[in-house]
Amino acid sequence: MKTSYKIAIVGSTGLVGRTVLKILEEKNFKNCSYTLFSSKKSAGSKLEFLGQSYVICELTENSFNSKFDYAIFCAGGEVSKKYIPIAVKNGCTVIDNSSVFRMDPKVPLVVPEVNPEKIFENSGIIANPNCSTIQAVIPLKPLDIKYNIKRIVYSTYQAVSGAGRQGILDLESGIKGEPPKKFPYPIFNNCIPHIDVFLEDGYTKEEHKMIDETRKILDKPNLPITATTVRVPVRNCHSESINIEFEKEFDIYDVFKLLEKSPGIIVVDNPSKNYYPLATKADGGDEILVGRIRRDFSIKSGLNIWCVGDNLRKGAASNAVQILEKLL
Ligand SMILES: NC(=O)c1ccc[n+]([C@@H]2O[C@H](COP(=O)([O-])OP(=O)(O)OC[C@H]3O[C@@H](n4cnc5c(N)ncnc54)[C@H](OP(=O)(O)O)[C@@H]3O)[C@@H](O)[C@H]2O)c1
Repeated sequence: MKTSYKIAIVGSTGLVGRTVLKILEEKNFKNCSYTLFSSKKSAGSKLEFLGQSYVICELTENSFNSKFDYAIFCAGGEVSKKYIPIAVKNGCTVIDNSSVFRMDPKVPLVVPEVNPEKIFENSGIIANPNCSTIQAVIPLKPLDIKYNIKRIVYSTYQAVSGAGRQGILDLESGIKGEPPKKFPYPIFNNCIPHIDVFLEDGYTKEEHKMIDETRKILDKPNLPITATTVRVPVRNCHSESINIEFEKEFDIYDVFKLLEKSPGIIVVDNPSKNYYPLATKADGGDEILVGRIRRDFSIKSGLNIWCVGDNLRKGAASNAVQILEKLL
């Protein structure tokens, strides 16, 4: 690896940003120089990273004058919209965690286990998919190659950390009976069928993200998909029920074997031992746990799976760092 890469982490004080730093440490990414950015609010505070103390810098329009090679953006859509064009104009290649550029046909939307070849088709921006999409397409891709997916029904059970720091604070303060600041209703003791904003067709933007991004990543622009996304009082890790209809017939034993040997997956499935994927087991890991693998008897070639992934790691930070590793 070249030793002189300059890397910016934008939103370094947030949940995803801090997880990016943790993963760079785990992977011992020492041979680069880093600048950590936040808003004015956290600027000037300090973060320990790779054995050094870093002073957090305020992100401004001039931040990219100092010519970064790469940047990982984890500071929300408004920040990405405003600052990524400036970064790219200054020669920086950006990996973006927001949804702003994901559906732009010129921007690759990448999960390294699924479509790594797209990384090198970038013109300065590579988009990280939505957390709930990343964990779904990892098992879907090998199934699609072998059995040709005809339709998908998603139902998600998403952790509060998916809504950032304030999401976790709402759960913690809700336990004490305090009113929520992030969610429209108390998340403690509730399941809220509302993630991101509602659109005119009655779906939420999160549901549309899952539908549109899955089609783009699987390269099946007309694939029938429907989704219901729900916030649940779990601190970290999203769980998903995925119902899949295939064009081809399958043998359930072959499905197990296929998923077991596919990258990024751990099959956790033994009903006789109450062995299935749980948020508490996926927490802190980079693999997607897949279980409850069983035939959907209501249609000709249907399958149900339950998959659980760490939304802060594989759903955001690890995926971004894997892309960075490939770029380097
Ligand atoms: N949470 C997840 O599971 C997840 C998964 C996939 C993708 N994402 C995406 O990742 C991004 C970050 O999410 P998060 O959950 O980490 O949010 P978060 O915990 O709320 O953190 C937000 C970060 O953005 C920074 N920020 C806010 N406004 C800024 C500005 N004007 N200029 C510079 N920095 C600014 C904050 O800095 P201060 O400390 O100064 O406030 C903080 O570092 C979002 O686009 C989100 O959609 C999140």
